[in-house]
Amino acid sequence: MGSSSMTSHCFVVVTLSLLYVTTTYGQLSQNFYAENCPVLERIVQTEVSGALSAEKRMGASLLRLFFHDCFVQGCDGSVLLNDAPDSERDADANANSLRGFDVIDAIKTKVETNCPGVVSCADILALATREAVVELGGPSWTLLLGRRDSTTSSKKLAEDNLPGPSSSLDGLVTAFANKGFTPTELVALSGAHTIGMAKCEFADEGQVRPECNLDSLAMTALDFADARVPTTPTRHSSTLTSPPAMNKLSEVGLLTGDEGQIRLNCNKVNVN
Ligand code: HEM
Repeated sequence: MGSSSMTSHCFVVVTLSLLYVTTTYGQLSQNFYAENCPVLERIVQTEVSGALSAEKRMGASLLRLFFHDCFVQGCDGSVLLNDAPDSERDADANANSLRGFDVIDAIKTKVETNCPGVVSCADILALATREAVVELGGPSWTLLLGRRDSTTSSKKLAEDNLPGPSSSLDGLVTAFANKGFTPTELVALSGAHTIGMAKCEFADEGQVRPECNLDSLAMTALDFADARVPTTPTRHSSTLTSPPAMNKLSEVGLLTGDEGQIRLNCNKVNVN
């Protein structure tokens, strides 16, 4: 190929790629609901604040719920579905472990009362997560809205994609690389464990506290500020240091435009 045809070939490829990016993400915006649901962010804030006052750990639980949503089919609310057997919720990493579904359902109910059929469950989960992290003293990040909800959810896909506590370092690096994340971003995102709890079965000896038995939970800290207090020893001293990495996580594999649907109930696919 001559150099001028090579140049025009590259130009076409670059232009098409740019067009693709624009069409895929063109509909997303920070103000996506400004006209159709201006009360959205206030509802999310009120509900998340209420949930955190009732139980501070809920912030950590929402953050994990969001990560587990994004890491399977993309941030498409598929983790919230429970209307079919063998959905993501049934995966080993999720069953009897994921929490926060009630908070998302409560927000969705209020949102549907105010602006019916407009706001996706995927966006509600993304907004609630950011709100919770910020309220707990963590970083904020730019959140583009306009995600659509999936109509499918698969236990197998969840088990194939979610890293587990027994994953090797290579396994973790590969799981994150499969979703487009570098090892540095893996470390930054793992700083999420600054907050929250795990079943005692996952705690190593250095972490186990006297009160930790098989029925209870090993804890790091409940908010990002606690984790910075030097007298509170925590083995997870890194914090969720990378707003760009959270931003990237919130844009993994999105459905936009006419893809998917806006579920009326986050737990169920709409039936026509
Ligand atoms: C690097 C791979 C990861 C592995 C192997 C992993 C594994 C785990 C495990 C085993 C638990 C305890 C679950 C339980 O006992 O029920 C946990 C909790 C948690 N994980 Fe991860 N995780 C990973 C990455 C992440 C990421 C990227 C985030 C968020 C950005 C995250 C956020 C959390 C939070 C906040 C909790 C506490 C949840 C609560 O208190 O309810 N994790 N993780």
